[in-house]
Order: sequence, then structure tokens, then C-alpha cells
Amino acid sequence: MDVDGTAVTQRLRELPGGPELLAVAADYGGVELVGGAVRDILLGAVPRELDTLVESDVQAVVDALVERLDGEATVHERFGTALISSPVAQIDLVRARAESYPAPGALPDVRPGTLEQDLARRDFTVNAIAVALGGDGAGQVRATAHALEDLQAGRLRVLHERSFIDDPTRLLRLARYTSRLGFEIEPHTAELVAQALTAGALSTVSAARVGAELRLALAEPEPSSAIEEMARLGLLQAIHPALDFDGSVVRRALRLLPADDGRADLLVLASLLLELVVGDSGAARRGRSGSARGGPAFQLLSDWQFPAPDRDRALAAAGTAAGGELTAELSPEMSDSRLYALADGTPPEGVALAGALGGAESEQAAARWLTETRYVSLAITGEDLLAAGVPQGPEIGLRLDAALAMRLDGRLDDGRDAQLRAALEACI
Ligand code: CTP
Repeated sequence: MDVDGTAVTQRLRELPGGPELLAVAADYGGVELVGGAVRDILLGAVPRELDTLVESDVQAVVDALVERLDGEATVHERFGTALISSPVAQIDLVRARAESYPAPGALPDVRPGTLEQDLARRDFTVNAIAVALGGDGAGQVRATAHALEDLQAGRLRVLHERSFIDDPTRLLRLARYTSRLGFEIEPHTAELVAQALTAGALSTVSAARVGAELRLALAEPEPSSAIEEMARLGLLQAIHPALDFDGSVVRRALRLLPADDGRADLLVLASLLLELVVGDSGAARRGRSGSARGGPAFQLLSDWQFPAPDRDRALAAAGTAAGGELTAELSPEMSDSRLYALADGTPPEGVALAGALGGAESEQAAARWLTETRYVSLAITGEDLLAAGVPQGPEIGLRLDAALAMRLDGRLDDGRDAQLRAALEACI
């Protein structure tokens, strides 16, 4: 592949933060565009951030960029990295470094290194291409062996035999890149994946790091495809034997998920937990209340360090779908009041999954809930019942529920007076 480094710098000039980065690079030597930024520009895509490598004084470059972009820098001394964020751009800066792994799966020990050493420590060849941004050599391209041909062929290849053993999170990154870029896995790299899994590589990685990689996969534009690739490669099973991904159920559930308040990432996450939740008889009840404590699925999400609101919502969704009642009863004949009784208070991801698990007729009922039934409400409130003389206490809720059930089943119109009368006359 013939790569025109000058075309890369020209394209960079059009991207947010690009002109500032080029100006700073012209003032300081040894500033290179690397990693995902070069890869994406060469693929004609827009990089998510500008990955930049500095061979010289990182702090001086950070300060200059912060000033030009009116941004803020978060510096990680241990890894010699800095993230510069401004309202317009995000620049990921690394000091050129060499790495060694004190133990398989551990975070690396890093020391200052050359550009060549930095490229050689990377995960895949397509991420190991650098374009010089300033100085006499501006536009010069340097890349590891095979990098340019792999980029052209759409191929993911590790740089050395021990790559997945040193850093098994690369197995999860591989699945993410395969799905996002639509690239093939180079045959020898595929063999190394299988060897790493046989050697139990993923068990050397902390649950927190696995969780961080899963969150990145779930944040992809197509989270189900990234997770499906993990399943195909055998990674999910290696992380936990009860994790299971059924692509056809998830795809059907995603089609049911409302665009406004549905969360595709949490639906996919919940789908992974179905088997774990089925074995945990109390999960549906605890999950539905959103306060699930204990149980293997809760433990796993906590170990992976998912934020509590996401953890509870995914558990509630998995509990709803795997817990039985709703999944078993969803059908076109089901009354709206029964639908309400079983689905109210559950997240939309749970109802979508329950619908998809049950086949075409359940999907129809789940769609009815998600698009219509859940929005039905009364024109009266508890205040109206209090004003009409109903004593404070559980009776208020019971009377409102009875009126809502009549309204849901079409036995009551939306006039306030009729609803108040129905609530007051309900046999509770
Ligand atoms: N890297 C690595 N091993 C890891 C993590 C990162 O070798 N476990 C290297 C890769 O070369 C990658 C670079 O660090 O290109 C920056 O990491 P990251 O920002 O996560 O990767 P990008 O390729 O920029 O990915 P994305 O497009 O998802 O931002």
C-alpha cells in the first residue's frame, strides 16, 4: 500500500483540533500521529480522538496544546500519557515508550523509548503506523512490518507471538475491531487466539479490566455485533462459563427496543446474563425492584465495576426476561391490564427481551406494551380520591389501580368524572 503521509496531515488539518496539533508539532520536534487516528484517516473515516505520540518533552507539548485549545489535561504519570479535552477536540497523547509485562495479564511496566519501540509494543499492525507531524520529516510514514498491507487488506494481525499472553485484553479488543472495522483475523493470529484461550489467558486479567473492555464493546455503534464476535471467538465462555449470547434473540429484541428511552448496550448486557439469572430464583423479583443484591449476575456486574444504575437496570431486564411470568404469558390475547400488571416498573430492555425470547406472538404483545400500553394513564390522581373522602393509606393506590385496569381494558373513557366514579365504586 502506498501511503501518502502528506495527505494524512492535510486531512488532519480539517479535523477539530487538527490545526492546533499541527501548529504545536511544528514548534516541537518528534510529534507523530499514531494508532487509531492514522488507521481511521487512512480508511477514510473520522477518528474518535487524535492519538498523538511525542518523542521529546511531553509536558511542553501538553502545555502548548492546552493553551491553544483552551482545554484541560488529565495526565497519567505512570504510563506517560495525557488526555487533552476541549469543547472541540480530544487529543490522546503518549510519550514514546517501551514496555515489559511483569506477569501475564498485569499492567505493563513502561519506560521512555523510541518511536520504533513504541510501534513494536502495540496490539495490532494496523494500529502501528505513525505519520510525523512537524519538522523536516513532516509527512514521513513509519510502520511495523505488514502494517500497510494489512490495513489495505482489512486484516488484524498481532505483532508478536506473546501478544495475547502479555495482554489478554487484546483478545477483547480484537473482537471489537473485527466488528467495527469489518476486518478479518489473520490466520496465525487466529491460532494465537485459540492458544491463549487454551492457556487460560483471560483468567489472568482482573475483573475490573475485563469490565472496562466490555463497556467499550457495549459503547460501540453496534454493541451486539462486538459481543457476538466475542462469543464467536470463545471469549465470553472464557470469561464466565454461564455467559451466553444468542444473536437472533438479541437482534429481534433490539428491533422492539424504543429509540427514545431504550438502551441497546444494556439490552445486550442483560441478554448475556439470562442463564445466570435463570439459575437464581429470586433474581426476577429483586431485579424488578431495581435493588438486586447478591446472586451471581449481581456479583459479576459488580466485579466488572458497572455503574450501579446500569448494573441494576441490566439485572432488572434480565430478571424480567428470564424470570418467567411475563415471558410465559406474553401473547396477543393478553389483556392490557394483565400486561400492565406484569410489565409495569420493568425497563424496556426487559420487555423487549421477553418478547424476543417468546417468538412472533410474544413480540407483538411486547411491542404493544412498549409503544402504547405503558403510556396509558388516568386523568385523576390520589389527591382527587383524598378530596372525595377516601382515607390516606393503601386504599388510594388500590382504587387507582382498579380504575387504571378498567381504563386499560377499554371499559372506561378518559373523562375525569367517570374515572373518579369508577375508582370510588371499585370493589377492592
Ligand atoms: N494499545 C495496545 N494494547 C492495549 C491497548 C491499546 O497496544 N491493550 C495501543 C493500540 O495500538 C492503540 C493505542 O494503544 O491503537 C491507543 O489505544 P486506544 O485509544 O484504545 O485505541 P484506538 O486504536 O485509538 O481505538 P479507538 O478507535 O477505539 O479509539
